[in-house]
Amino acid sequence: MSAEFVELGDLSDLRDGRMKVFSDLGLHGVIVCRIGGTLHAVENNCSHRDTPLADGRLRGALITCPLHGAQFDVRTGAHQGPPAFAPIACYAVTESDGVASIQLDD
Ligand code: FES
Repeated sequence: MSAEFVELGDLSDLRDGRMKVFSDLGLHGVIVCRIGGTLHAVENNCSHRDTPLADGRLRGALITCPLHGAQFDVRTGAHQGPPAFAPIACYAVTESDGVASIQLDD
């Protein structure tokens, strides 16, 4: 499996605790959010029943699915318990000279 790097542009205006959706990335789109000053990225899809997580709520590092309330850690993609039983994809994001880039798997 090889890695694909995609430029996301200048995300310096993405404030702590806020998220932005890139719907054209990956299979379901990607959520990029800033937590404690650092950018994180996860797929925009709940592993329980394929629901866009971007319609949910981000509190701290946990995003809550709007449909049945499953929670995922945006730093790792790990699920926090039922009703989800699987993690979501998590992607590495870098920020350099005002440009954010994400590393997607092919
Ligand atoms: S679809 Fe997300 S918790 Fe059920």
